[in-house]
Amino acid sequence: MSEDFSQFVAECRQRVDSALQNLLPVTTGPGERLRDAMRYSLFNGGKRVRPILAYASGLAVGDTLTQAQQASLDAVACALECVHAYSLVHDDLPAMDDDDLRRGKPTCHIAFDEATAILAGDALQTLAFELLSDAPHLDAACKLALLQQLTRASGVRGMVLGQAIDLAAVNQQLNLDQLETMHRHKTGALISASVAMGAIVCGADATRLQALTTYADAIGLAFQVQDDILDVTTDTAILGKQQGADVARNKPTYVSLLGLDNARAKAQELHQQALAALADFDQRAQPLRALSAYIIERSH
Ligand code: IPE
Ligand code: IPE
Ligand code: MG
Ligand code: MG
Ligand code: MG
Repeated sequence: MSEDFSQFVAECRQRVDSALQNLLPVTTGPGERLRDAMRYSLFNGGKRVRPILAYASGLAVGDTLTQAQQASLDAVACALECVHAYSLVHDDLPAMDDDDLRRGKPTCHIAFDEATAILAGDALQTLAFELLSDAPHLDAACKLALLQQLTRASGVRGMVLGQAIDLAAVNQQLNLDQLETMHRHKTGALISASVAMGAIVCGADATRLQALTTYADAIGLAFQVQDDILDVTTDTAILGKQQGADVARNKPTYVSLLGLDNARAKAQELHQQALAALADFDQRAQPLRALSAYIIERSH
């Protein structure tokens, strides 16, 4: 990571962390356990890739960002991380991947209990939509565009569909097209929405939005290809989640279907596609380019 990019990443993380803290402060009283479980799932060491993508995308299309745009990007960043955190809490449940470890700590349903984890996931999800509909600096048309992006990416045509395909694929052989469809939905959709939402807030025109969509579709798939690779190659201690979980549950992955070398080549090919999509962007898209590299080089 270059020094500039590390600094950009650190700043984005700080911004989204502080906005999330404001959104969900420590409070006592009814629902305390629910809120504790939500906070546990939001503040336990996530990489914040989706918020960082939204900030980077805003930067790539916006000139000097106004304070209102900055604040709106914070709202988008929080909404994305809430949906992502919810998806992981549910993904780890016994009825789904049945994982005990996430980000080096017990998963939400282990640290709390299953019912609390289900409710924390539900509440994180709806909080995301509340946040966007209440965003103070956005007009109605912009809020609607953001809500359309996030609902579409999260639900029956996005992440949840991908998760359903994933669960149905346990012990099954998928062909490459089917595997790609699964990955594009369960992981790619929210990543694409992150890029699109950052750009929408900062007033991207249709041409830029189209180029960014092409970029995001490539890195969204690359992200899950790398996740599949890490499941095989990285130690549990670094990964923060159980190594070999996909193999143990007999899940079809890019590695199981293509082998490690070809999976790595696929990730590299997608990175090149992502860079090509940004050919007409200037140096303000540098963080987006660096993020694409980071996604396929990361170790956890
Ligand atoms: C993990 O996502 C789940 C996938 C979609 C592959 P991340 O790797 O972004 O998880 P955190 O938030 O950084 O832990
Ligand atoms: C998760 O995919 C995708 C989600 C929508 C949460 P995985 O099941 O591969 O994610 P990890 O490996 O548990 O983080
Ligand atoms: Mg899963
Ligand atoms: Mg999982
Ligand atoms: Mg995985």
